[in-house]
Amino acid sequence: MEGQKLCHYSKNESDNLKFVTTSCQNYAHGYFVAYDHMMADQPDFILHLGDYIYDTSFGENFRRHETESAPESLEEFRLRHALYKTEEYLQNAHAQIPFFTMIDNHDAVEDNSTETIKKRTAAYQAWYEHMPVRGFPFLGANEFRLHRNIKIGELTEIKLLDSRQFRSERGICDQDLQSSLGFGNFRPQCDELFEKNRTMLGRAQTDWLVENLRNNRASWNVIASPGPFLPFRLENNKKELRYIGAWDAYPENRQEIINAIEISPGHPLVLSGDMHSFWAIDAKDDPFLNDKTELIEFVGSSVSANWPEPLSKPVRTNLKKNRQIKFYNGEKRGYFLHELNTDTWVATAKGVLSTKDKKSKVRQLAKFLVEKGKPGFKKIG
Ligand SMILES: [Fe+2]
Repeated sequence: MEGQKLCHYSKNESDNLKFVTTSCQNYAHGYFVAYDHMMADQPDFILHLGDYIYDTSFGENFRRHETESAPESLEEFRLRHALYKTEEYLQNAHAQIPFFTMIDNHDAVEDNSTETIKKRTAAYQAWYEHMPVRGFPFLGANEFRLHRNIKIGELTEIKLLDSRQFRSERGICDQDLQSSLGFGNFRPQCDELFEKNRTMLGRAQTDWLVENLRNNRASWNVIASPGPFLPFRLENNKKELRYIGAWDAYPENRQEIINAIEISPGHPLVLSGDMHSFWAIDAKDDPFLNDKTELIEFVGSSVSANWPEPLSKPVRTNLKKNRQIKFYNGEKRGYFLHELNTDTWVATAKGVLSTKDKKSKVRQLAKFLVEKGKPGFKKIG
C-alpha cells in the first residue's frame, strides 16, 4: 500500500517474544522506577503508548517540572523533553531496550485549529527530536505520520495507532456539562457521537488499519491503541455518560474496525493505555456487542501519572454494570508484560508499590493466559 511504513524487528528465536506495554509518565508525580523492573524482566522491546512527557503537574508536585507553565514554544518543549531525559530509570531503559513510541494528548496539541497550530508544530518537532522515530517530513511540519505495523515474523503483527492527529472534534456533548464527571471527560451522551463520518483515526489511517488487519499473516493480530478501545458503560443519576477521550466517543469508527477484525486471520487482541489503571476486558461477555466479537483488551497502567478520585470513582462505581471487565486495579502504577509464542499469550499486570520510593518493589497483580483460537482469557495468577 502506498506510503505504508513497516518496522521489521529481527530476532534469533522468531517463535517467542517478550515485550512491555506502558504509558503516561508524569515527572512531577513520582519516580519512573517501573522501568527498573521492566529491565529486570528483559523484554525485547517497550511499546510506549504515549504521554512520554506531561505539559502540567495537575497540582501534584512530588518533584517539579523545570517550570509550572505548560510549554508553548519549540524551546519550551525542548526543555521539557530535556528534563524527562535526565530521569535515571528512563535513561537506563533507553540504554538497554528498544522503544516503540506513540504520541498522546499530553505530548502534543491534538487540535489542528488556527489558534493552536504554532504550538502543535513546536510540540511535534521537539517530540521527533527526542524520540527513536523517523519520518518527520520537514521542520515546521504540522502532521507527522506515526502509525505503523510492527511485524515480528509470523508470530505477531502489532498495528500501532495514532489516535490523536486525525480524530474528529473532541469538544462535543457539552450542552449539559454540569452532569459531567471526571474533570469534564465523562460527558452525557449526545447525538453527535453517532454521526456516520465521526472518526478517531481519520479515513486514510482507518483504511490502512482495515487492510493490515485483513492481510495479517501472523499468529497474533494485534491493535495497539493509546486509549481504551472496547466499550465501558458509565452512568450517573440514570444518565449515560461517555469518556470523551476514548473510542467510546467514536462508536462508528470502532464498529468499522470490529467488523474488519471479525473477518481477519490470526487471533485478535487489543493493547492500550491512557487510563492510569489496569484492566482486562473480554468483549464476548459484553451484552451490548454482537456475540461474534471475540476480542480481548489489556489496558496497562501508567509509569507514574496518578489516577485521581474524580476519574477513578465513576469507573469504580460503574464496574458492576460492565461484566466484560474481568479485572480492574486503579491503585497501582506500572505496566503489562506480554510473553508469547505461536500458541499462547501470557499477559502479566505488574504494579509498582510506590512511585515515591526509588527502591520500590513491584508486585504481580494478575496474570492472564490467552490460548490461540480460543475466545477470552483465563486468569492464572
Ligand atoms: Fe496519560
